[in-house]
Amino acid sequence: MVCKSFGKCGSCVLWRMPYNEQLRMKSENLKEMFDEFDMPELEIIYGRDEHFRARAEFRIWHEGEKSFYAMRKRKEEGRGVIPIENCPIVDEAIYNVMNPLITEIEKNENLRFKLYEIDFLSNSKRELIVTLIYHKKIDEKIAEDIKKLKEKFPEIDFIIRKKGRKFVFDKNYLIEELKINDKIYKYKIIENTFSQPNREINRKMIEWVLQNTKDLKGDLVELYCGNGNFTVPLSKNFRKVIATEINKESIEAATYNTEINNAKNITFLAMSAAEFSALKKENSPLLASYDLKNVLIDPPRAGLDDKSREFVNGFDNIIYISCNPQTLKRDLTTLTKKRRIKAFAFFDQFPYTEHMECGVVLEKVKN
Ligand SMILES: C[S@@+](CC[C@H](N)C(=O)[O-])C[C@H]1O[C@@H](n2cnc3c(N)ncnc32)[C@H](O)[C@@H]1O
Repeated sequence: MVCKSFGKCGSCVLWRMPYNEQLRMKSENLKEMFDEFDMPELEIIYGRDEHFRARAEFRIWHEGEKSFYAMRKRKEEGRGVIPIENCPIVDEAIYNVMNPLITEIEKNENLRFKLYEIDFLSNSKRELIVTLIYHKKIDEKIAEDIKKLKEKFPEIDFIIRKKGRKFVFDKNYLIEELKINDKIYKYKIIENTFSQPNREINRKMIEWVLQNTKDLKGDLVELYCGNGNFTVPLSKNFRKVIATEINKESIEAATYNTEINNAKNITFLAMSAAEFSALKKENSPLLASYDLKNVLIDPPRAGLDDKSREFVNGFDNIIYISCNPQTLKRDLTTLTKKRRIKAFAFFDQFPYTEHMECGVVLEKVKN
């Protein structure tokens, strides 16, 4: 990948390194980090090294009559942002619309004044949600300007945000389609809720989890399920699935996603992982009809809190998707006491950055 902002922009810190070299370095780092565990061979799962991000956030830089997208500077250059001409890590739908959009916004002082940030979310059909975030009072007058903007960009649904206020033109979600193995799954993705940033790697992660759970016996519990990204395709490998997530809008999307994909054996609950973990201790009737043998977790960077780790440690089989190898390593110290690690994968969701997404499958060691 080539980018004019390489060496200045704080996002692509591995800009000097060819992509193959990045993959080699990151996988060597992971092998070394997890050396103390008895790890199977690391599977390296990667995709395109440009136009891979389906969502992105840019600050806006105003200079005279011009406005530019901006990214934070490299750490070495101190705080602040730098203007950028384009960003080749975003997918084509976002890339192609970025400059025509800012040019139109520049022409309208009401849309341009105190515009602080623009966020993009795309789907594989090249539809977009674009959120304009302002640092000024917003009133209903802006609706007329957005209506005119929408005539130029019919593929975009716009959202206007200012602390405490939000205007939606016309909807705040996209329907994504992912081909997983041979089947197409549809997902409602709501703006400002979590969705996997790299569409291609997400598809490969789901296929990896499907492959690694196809022979498991018993039912599945899932914590941190988001919009049902893993839950919906995975439900075909299990008799019953119960999945939980703290964000109510994500649970609303997840419920919708089970319906549009005709998955009938899933129950979703909107609650924190720790709250859900307490249900088992209390012998809650909610869990009575489940054969609790398998758990899938995909927590945020902080990994598992103490209560959730204790809960997860009660299952025979654990599938752990992690966006932070440090907290994964901490959690594995507990989870490997009675289990062996059956599979270990590195999913390169974030080329040109030092971030690493991993998958680990653990199974109970029989006495
Ligand atoms: C890395 S995302 C994974 C989401 C989903 N598995 C996916 O693939 O899209 C982590 C999710 O955990 C949720 N979350 C964060 N803290 C939580 C908590 N304490 N309990 C339950 N869910 C939480 C977030 O809202 C987010 O949807």
